[in-house]
Amino acid sequence: MENFKNTLNSNLLKSEVLGKILFSSSVINDKVSELGNRITEDYSGKDLLLVSVLRGGAIFVTDLARKIDIGLTIDFMSISSYHGIHQTSTGVVKITKDLEDSIEGKDVIIVEDIIDTGLTISYLLRNLKSRYPGSIEICTLLDRNVRRIANINIKYIGFSIGEEFVVGYGLDYKQKYRNLDSIYELKLDMVKKDIEHLQNEPVDT
Ligand code: IMP
Ligand code: MG
Repeated sequence: MENFKNTLNSNLLKSEVLGKILFSSSVINDKVSELGNRITEDYSGKDLLLVSVLRGGAIFVTDLARKIDIGLTIDFMSISSYHGIHQTSTGVVKITKDLEDSIEGKDVIIVEDIIDTGLTISYLLRNLKSRYPGSIEICTLLDRNVRRIANINIKYIGFSIGEEFVVGYGLDYKQKYRNLDSIYELKLDMVKKDIEHLQNEPVDT
């Protein structure tokens, strides 16, 4: 795997990995404003706490928070759950960094980059609901409901997408590409070839 990472860094050009732009930065910006306006209306007079799920949700939450025109707090949580491209998440989720503060009585919105099978978020929901929040809702930038396994109710959705694996605006492939300001399709063929190529290579001693 370490080799693969190095190969991606050195041999593959950005243009070989990234496919077409699905959502440009200006389209994302408009959508984030729209979500911010809705949340501003829905949460006026409430004690709003945005819970961002690291690392993917970090970029989205900082933009979203600035489009919400009421007092709020932000807290971060880190969980590990996803294994590779298009592998179904097992639902086995580990909290690797918990929230700093109590959420008791708070009106919580969990802010996610993408909800795929929904297994990660349903674990998180169960976990946070047991901490007595005043209310709890979900806001996700991307919703891939074609692969949904868990039955969850998402109040705020930015865009719905299909099977394509996407990177940018917080979303990664092997921890890279989170810093792109638009959301791109990943060229899976290229990356697959890269892995095959590596598997046929003699192993360095
Ligand atoms: P779920 O438990 O299957 O809903 O997994 C959701 C998590 O998988 C997200 O928070 C992402 O970290 C990751 N993920 C799922 N699809 C993609 C994608 O297309 N690009 C990047 N990360 C993804
Ligand atoms: Mg994530």
